[in-house]
Amino acid sequence: MSKRVILLVGTPCVGKTSVAHLLTSKLGALYVNLTDLALHENLVLGRDEERNSIIVDENRMRCEMRKIIQDCSENDIVIDGHYAAGVVHKELVDHVFVLRRDPVELRKFMEHCGFSGRKLWENLASEILDVCLCDTLNVYEEEKICELDTSSRSVKEIVYAILEVLNGSKQCHVGIVDWLGKLESEGLLEKFLRI
Ligand SMILES: Nc1ncnc2c1ncn2[C@@H]1O[C@H](COP(=O)(O)OP(=O)(O)OP(=O)(O)O)[C@@H](O)[C@H]1O
Ligand SMILES: [Mg+2]
Repeated sequence: MSKRVILLVGTPCVGKTSVAHLLTSKLGALYVNLTDLALHENLVLGRDEERNSIIVDENRMRCEMRKIIQDCSENDIVIDGHYAAGVVHKELVDHVFVLRRDPVELRKFMEHCGFSGRKLWENLASEILDVCLCDTLNVYEEEKICELDTSSRSVKEIVYAILEVLNGSKQCHVGIVDWLGKLESEGLLEKFLRI
C-alpha cells in the first residue's frame, strides 16, 4: 500500500491540531505539526513582531517535508499547519482537508486562544474571505481538496467525517460555506469584517 499524505489546513484556532491528533491515532499515522517542526529544526527566517508569529523558511521546510514523507514507515501521514499549502509538494499530497468554522463561533475560539485586537480581526477576515481555501486551490488539484464545515461539531464528529471521505464512503467538495452571505443576512458583516 502506498503512503497517504493528508493535510489539515485552516485559519488559526479553527481546530486543526485537535482534529489531527484524533485522526492520527485512528489511522496509526505519523503526525507532523509544521509550526513545531519549524521551531525544532530552526526552519525560521525571523519573527513577525507585529503579528507575534514566526516567518517560516518555506524552501527549507519543503525539503524537510519531502525527506520526512520519504523516510516515514507509517502508511499515513497527517500534516497540520495553516500554511501547509506552501510547503508540501503537490505531487506528494493525496488529500487536503480545509477546516472551516462560522466566524461567530471562531471568534470565541480565537479569544479563548488569547487572540485580540488586530490579530483577531485579521484572522477572522481571512476566514470570512476564504483565504486558506483560495491558497489551497492555488496549489492543489480541486479533486484532492475537501472543505469541511466544523461549526458546532465535536472533534470526534469531524474526524468521523474525514474518515468517511478517506475510505471513499462520502464525497467531498469545495464551496460549501458562504460566511460573507451568512454574516450579511444576520446583520453582522460590519461588526466582523473590520480589516
Ligand atoms: N470541535 C471542537 N469543539 C470544541 N472545541 C474545540 C474543537 N476543536 C478545537 N477546539 C478547541 O479550540 C481551541 C483551538 O483548537 P486547536 O488548537 O486544535 O486549533 P488549531 O487550528 O490547531 O490552532 P492553531 O492554528 O493556533 O494551531 C482549543 O482550545 C481546542 O480545545
Ligand atoms: Mg494547531
